[in-house]
This record gives sequence, C-alpha cells and structure tokens, in this order.
Amino acid sequence: VIAESVRPTVIIGNWKMHKTIAESAAFVTSLAFVVRHSSTQVGLAVPYTMITAAADAARGALIAIGAQNVFDAEEGPYTGEISCRMLKDAGASFVIIGHSERRHLFHEDNAWINRKVKRALNDGLRVVLCIGETLEQHQTGKTHAVLHEQLTECLKDVGERQIESLIIAYEPVWAIGTNQTATPEIAQASHHFIRNEIAKKWGKPASERLIIQYGGSVKPENAAALLNEPDIDGLLVGGASLVLDAFVKIIQCHKIKTQSAT
Ligand code: PGA
Repeated sequence: VIAESVRPTVIIGNWKMHKTIAESAAFVTSLAFVVRHSSTQVGLAVPYTMITAAADAARGALIAIGAQNVFDAEEGPYTGEISCRMLKDAGASFVIIGHSERRHLFHEDNAWINRKVKRALNDGLRVVLCIGETLEQHQTGKTHAVLHEQLTECLKDVGERQIESLIIAYEPVWAIGTNQTATPEIAQASHHFIRNEIAKKWGKPASERLIIQYGGSVKPENAAALLNEPDIDGLLVGGASLVLDAFVKIIQCHKIKTQSAT
C-alpha cells in the first residue's frame, strides 16, 4: 500500500471566464517566481485565448497550463469547438472536463463527459474530471449514489493505464462560488468514498495513486484544514485563484500537510 504522503499535492486554479492575455502572462511570471522551490504541483486552467501566453510564461517553471473544456471529436464541422490537438498545440497539458457549470449551463451529461474524457486521455492530455452532488441531492442523502453514478458513467471504458493520467475533483455544487465550503469532514467522507469506488474497478494500487482534489469556495483560510485530510490530495480553486496573493497562500498550505504527515 502506498502511503498517503507519497501522493503529490496538486493545486489547480480554474480561472473560468476571467482575465486577458497580458494579465495571464504577468500572473504566471509572478507565480513562477514564487513556486520555484515548491514541491506542490501547480496548474492553471485558463481561457483558450490565454493558453499560449500563459504556457510561454510558465516555460521552465513548474506550472502546468490547461484548458477548461474540450470537444470530443478529433476534428470536423463543429463551429466554435476546440480539439485536444489544438489545446496541446497551444501549450496545454491538461483539461478540466465535466465542471458543474458545463453540466448545468451547457447541458453536458455523463455520457458526453465520458466521450470527452476518453478522447482527452487517448490524445495525451491529463484530465481533471469534476464530479459532485447538488444541494438537493446533498440534503436528501444522495451524495454517494450520485458520485457512484457519475464515476461509473463518466469513466466507462477507461482503462487501468489511462487512470494514471486522471485527477478527480470532488466539487459539491452547493459549495461552488457560494462561500459555503464543505467541512473537511464532509469532503473527506466523499473523497474516501471516491477512492474506494476507484479501487473496486481499477484496483487498490491505482486508487492509492489517484489524486483527488476538493473544489468549492477554497480560500487561504480553509485550504490547510482541507489538505490535512488523508484523502484530500489537492484543491481546485476558482475565485481565489484570480488573486495572486490568495492563490500563493493556498499553494503554501502544502507545507503544513507535509509536516503533519510525518
Ligand atoms: P470557487 O470555484 O472556488 O470559486 O467556489 C471552484 C470551481 O468551480 O472549480
């Protein structure tokens, strides 16, 4: 069994629809300087137009640049869509798939998300798959059933080797952009459930290596307590990743986890 502390801490910012090319380059340049000695893995999921500038600014630094969505076809007549090849060509190494805003505002369902996940993994992008229950599902005790269904359907036909390139982000919908962070205990219970589900299907070693991030109103004030939970290996940060100072503070929380784990 691989010890929990063997998993790296992975902190990713999700900028959603914010910033300009110049702002993204300046942010990444400053961030690169701050994280140059950090053992935490850091990523930024930026809008498509900023991928190249952000990736150029991140060159030589340990910051991965990714996208927030992708289409599931290789190429073709899909006006307004973008492919994995285009994302990689622009400088992206990972992509967020299945974010609740995509599910709710753009009607992405588990079957479509599954096609995107398989396409991205086949095409060599690391995938951050977002799952999580709504407030109503949370309040009516359906969290585990929802997570089970999302994992089963979104990861259908994904092979054991491909799981290595997957990160799962547990993002309770009621916690996103609401300042209602899940308590570390609630998040840990879901993360533990998710890891067990992965173990059942892809085996214990794969599940022990899997990075499971928490997302939903992560702030410098609550990041350390979340990261201290044994099955919380990282954070997917929305609003607080737009402000350099706040994002840096969240990245630096990793030190606390390392100390408490040894
Ligand atoms: P938030 O967003 O941190 O602003 O709640 C998280 C997310 O949507 O990934």
